[in-house]
Amino acid sequence: MATQHKHKFSAIILAAGKGTRMRSRMPKVLHKLAGMPLIGHVVAAVQSLSPEHIVTVVAPGMEAVQAAAQGAHFAVQHEQMGTGHAVKCAVEQKLSAYTGTVLILCGDTPLITPATLERLISASTSTDVVVVGMRVENPTGYGRMVTDGDTLKAIVECRDATAEQKQITLCNSGVLAISGAHLAGLLSGLKNNNAAGEYYLTDVVAVANEKGLRCTVIEADSAELAGINSRVQLAQVESVFQSRMRIRAMEQGATLVDPASVFFSADTYLGQDVVVHPNVVFGPKVHVGDNVEIKAFSHIEGTRIENGATIGPFARLRPGTHVGEAAHVGNFVELKNTQLKKGAKANHLSYVGDSEVGEGANIGAGTITCNYDGVNKFKTTIGKDAFIGSNSSLVAPISIGEGAIVGAGSVITHDVPNGALAVARGQQSNVDGKAIEIKLRKK
Ligand code: UD1
Ligand code: CA
Repeated sequence: MATQHKHKFSAIILAAGKGTRMRSRMPKVLHKLAGMPLIGHVVAAVQSLSPEHIVTVVAPGMEAVQAAAQGAHFAVQHEQMGTGHAVKCAVEQKLSAYTGTVLILCGDTPLITPATLERLISASTSTDVVVVGMRVENPTGYGRMVTDGDTLKAIVECRDATAEQKQITLCNSGVLAISGAHLAGLLSGLKNNNAAGEYYLTDVVAVANEKGLRCTVIEADSAELAGINSRVQLAQVESVFQSRMRIRAMEQGATLVDPASVFFSADTYLGQDVVVHPNVVFGPKVHVGDNVEIKAFSHIEGTRIENGATIGPFARLRPGTHVGEAAHVGNFVELKNTQLKKGAKANHLSYVGDSEVGEGANIGAGTITCNYDGVNKFKTTIGKDAFIGSNSSLVAPISIGEGAIVGAGSVITHDVPNGALAVARGQQSNVDGKAIEIKLRKK
């Protein structure tokens, strides 16, 4: 859905802050929202508008952030001396010759939408500095926007604001656009003579006004600009994001019987006429085709499900799984790195891992693939239309031929040829009258 924006721009995403209030050893922007790191959401929103460059500002030791923000360049801010200093690091290290519009965003504001960014980019074509403002009920902590008509004169940080300025409800969302031609000059005008002793990015507004540059505000919905500073806020934002995902899934043609109990990942795809019953969790990388029914209490991640398949109740589908057209996965069945081809069935109480199950094959109740010897993993191949009797153990590496039958309760350790019957279990012997004799003896 990438829309090629007609105006060229680049983006800087700030993520070098320690995120102390998360009380975590992990950088804040790596905490997950709908299965995706916070920074990934911001990068995705920016990337959907095809920027020329994205530069993420990180602190030393935040290499893991680089993996989570693929497609971005990185600038390192060695000491956290404020948001203005962070932007300076990005400009000096990666954008020194750039003269297009530069968007600046925070890595902890993941609900920002491409639509708002697009409005910001449009506004920036005629204005040197444009800041996204929002109205919030409790503005404590946010920078206040001092305006005069439609000119933005200054942004005053909460801790530096006068009692009168604190009455202002138009707040700085932290998202802004600055003309690249002026950016370096504006940053060099910043001073750190404030309550925090930091170089505030927000001071570029006052500096720009002094230089006679134009500064304005565009307003956006505060729900989309919520920043995450604590785990409580992370949970609140997760809840907002999940409702967005549920509504989107229903609008695109899926039935959610009890929407509030279905949890999505940011990248979940559901086809048309999918029915999702209560208490289903979609982990990352799930693609569901059309007319699929997912029954209650199923947990699905890293899986592709083809049209007309039936899943659950109580199914667990783990990464690397591909469920073929009209295949069935029933209750208490776990599939991992397994291909269940068209019309194949595993309906009850099974573990099938590292396997390929042919078209129309039937995996009986309680069948287990023994794929792991404690050190290595091995593959199981089950041919088309094979029938695996209940309670069988298939000791991998193993191959069961097309149309073969495995007798119930077998422990299969050798390959089974096409069309063969394999039975591998203790022989049954019946001793006539023996049970009666034993009971009499015990009396
Ligand atoms: C900032 C704004 C404030 C605005 C609010 C919106 C400033 C001075 N204040 O305040 O006006 O209302 O966001 O949420 O800009 N960061 C760095 N390096 C640093 C400091 C911060 O990379 O040296 C990053 C952080 O990781 C974070 C972002 O910049 O992603 C914002 O920093 P934060 O300390 O959260 O700013 P706020 O106090 O929330
Ligand atoms: Ca913040």
